[in-house]
Amino acid sequence: MLLKQTQDRIRQEIQKYPSRRSALVGALRIAQREKGYLPPDVLGEVAALFEYDPNALNELVTFYSMLYREPVGRYVLAVCDSLACYLVGSDRIIDHLSRFLDVPVGGTTADGLFSLRRAECLAACDLGPMMMVDEQYYGNLTPERVESIVNELRARASEGKA
Ligand code: FES
Repeated sequence: MLLKQTQDRIRQEIQKYPSRRSALVGALRIAQREKGYLPPDVLGEVAALFEYDPNALNELVTFYSMLYREPVGRYVLAVCDSLACYLVGSDRIIDHLSRFLDVPVGGTTADGLFSLRRAECLAACDLGPMMMVDEQYYGNLTPERVESIVNELRARASEGKA
């Protein structure tokens, strides 16, 4: 069951918009922040807060790549592989991360810290190759820079600041 404070945040999110529907993605992200992903029981709870059919929410989760139906690592490294980033080397970044973390694209490291994913355009094409982790953007990626980002995140997690 979602924490009361999560439910309250979702209710506040609903109040922000004239149409409840507009609050759905934000509400799902709030629920995901607590649980790490969106299993059917969580979708059911969010649907109940919206008085919606849970199946409609399930379709939404399938559509948005930043909403997860399965457990993911503490940090999801979402590397853009749309055209502008592809042209400046996103594939090289994805391959490098895959080797550096020893995890396939779509997988999660054995320690549960990192999941590696491809993402659609992150709307910062001039900074490609781009990656999003949690809600932070990292641009102008190089193999060295992604290693440094991963090491920083690892250090943050081991200090309990994850
Ligand atoms: S193509 Fe990568 S951010 Fe737009």
